[in-house]
Amino acid sequence: MSTHVLIFPLPMQGPVNCVLKLAELLCISGISVTVLNTDHIQRNLLRHTNVLSRFSRYPNFHFQTISDGLPDDHPRSTARYNEVFEGMKTVTEPAFRDMMVSGCFSCKSDSPVTVVIPDGLFSFALDVAEEIQIPLIYFETVSPCALWTYLCLPKLIGAGEVPFNGIDLDVLIKNVPGTEAFLRRRDLPGFYRYDNLTNPVMQIIMNEARQVPRAHGVILNTFEALDASILDQIRSLCPNIYCIGPLHTLLKSRLPKSTQHNVSNSLWTENRDCLSWLDTQLPKSVVYVSIGSMATMTVDQFVEIWHGLVNSGYPFLFVKRPGSVTGDYDESKVPGNLVGETNRRGFITTWVPQEEVLAHSAIGGFLTHSGWNSTVESMVEGVPMICWPLKVDQNVNSRFVSEVWKIGIDIKDTCDRFVVEKAVKDVLDVRRSEFFRSTKVVAEAGAKSVSENGSSWMDLNRLVEDLKSNDFVCK
Ligand SMILES: *[C@@H]1O[C@H](CO)[C@@H](O)[C@H](O)[C@H]1NC(C)=O
Ligand SMILES: *[C@@H]1O[C@H](CO)[C@@H](O)[C@H](O)[C@H]1NC(C)=O
Ligand SMILES: *[C@@H]1O[C@H](CO)[C@@H](O)[C@H](O)[C@H]1NC(C)=O
Ligand SMILES: *[C@@H]1O[C@H](CO)[C@@H](O)[C@H](O)[C@H]1NC(C)=O
Repeated sequence: MSTHVLIFPLPMQGPVNCVLKLAELLCISGISVTVLNTDHIQRNLLRHTNVLSRFSRYPNFHFQTISDGLPDDHPRSTARYNEVFEGMKTVTEPAFRDMMVSGCFSCKSDSPVTVVIPDGLFSFALDVAEEIQIPLIYFETVSPCALWTYLCLPKLIGAGEVPFNGIDLDVLIKNVPGTEAFLRRRDLPGFYRYDNLTNPVMQIIMNEARQVPRAHGVILNTFEALDASILDQIRSLCPNIYCIGPLHTLLKSRLPKSTQHNVSNSLWTENRDCLSWLDTQLPKSVVYVSIGSMATMTVDQFVEIWHGLVNSGYPFLFVKRPGSVTGDYDESKVPGNLVGETNRRGFITTWVPQEEVLAHSAIGGFLTHSGWNSTVESMVEGVPMICWPLKVDQNVNSRFVSEVWKIGIDIKDTCDRFVVEKAVKDVLDVRRSEFFRSTKVVAEAGAKSVSENGSSWMDLNRLVEDLKSNDFVCK
């Protein structure tokens, strides 16, 4: 039976972007791929991206949609994301099972799914895959270092390290093997700070920790040279892992030259004027600031960061996504000097083509929320980071950026104009040559991994062979 892979991403922009890149890599390798999106995500993708024209060159690619159980006008914001999980539990999970067991992906259909690749959080998919006896490979779009803290959650709870006993967030963690020397309570995923294990997010992560090792394999967006020691730890529980990162550069290395420049999956319209503005700036002089596609900050935090940027004296490109600043933001109350200085040295916009921005020679540093996708994109371009993590895996990523890879500064749990100003000056001036060297090493290792015969290149080949050699037959 011909190989037909079903990829089922978490309904958020970051994971959906990643998954589309994996889908394209598999299509290039001659595998039939269906991406299953929620109706809401699919509507936004079609409205704002060239995804259909981009994939029109792959006759072996298809989209399928599924309900997330929420009304069309629900905001699906970070603050209400637990409602998305509830909707998925009651509506999406049974609908998915029907599709797989008797519906459009089943043996009763024209092209049954032979392997399913869901997001690591979709524990329910493993039960369905086992029921119909097809292999399941999880795609973890979070960082391996954060995944490792998820996989260690049962151990952390067993040892009484989580929930935290006491309020000191600087206590070192003992039960995440390999990180004992530097991982503090405050560097664990944000929800490990809940004082109570009945929290639904903790339950979801506990399920993930139990299910991921039962899967046939795990796909990670990293490369061996970056994460060798954490990968060895993960292999102790999940022996079969495929490291195919940096995913976006691996895709570029496999695409024909003529099609390389149109890879945009953004859910917002990208402002390209910022690129011509960057052209007018000095090399490595601009701080790029973005908190990604989901995170939000309060008005006070926004104003603190803004002051810090202005006070640093360096030019800055600040992404202020619609809805990313919460609370009552009143433009007329912003101090006049802030606006004046911004007009002279800054550029504030709603959304930018991030890969192109990070690749621009004028960029000297990236103030980021430390989402894994943004972190990897920054590594690839050799841009040092100022990490202001907010939640999920970001707390872990930022600690690895500062203490393990030494390619940036972690300012987590602060939001203060003086801290921001100092961090900008450290990255662009005081520690400039140190970061120049360390970021170059990481960027070069990343480039090597995706080039011919590099580690990620080879792991993608192995993944493709494994997907094709699966001898699933409909019974
Ligand atoms: C734990 O949290 C839940 C809600 O998240 C709450 O209903 C419950 O009372 C809490 N239990 C304890 C022991 O604090
Ligand atoms: C890439 O985008 C440009 C403009 O956005 C368009 O003119 C061109 O046809 C696109 N190329 C491909 C291969 O889709
Ligand atoms: C990564 O995230 C940025 C900003 O959130 C977005 O512009 C970019 O398209 C994403 N890239 C990938 C590979 O998902
Ligand atoms: C990659 O490996 C193959 C097989 O070992 C070899 O023939 C080829 O020359 C290698 N390519 C590069 C760029 O090293």
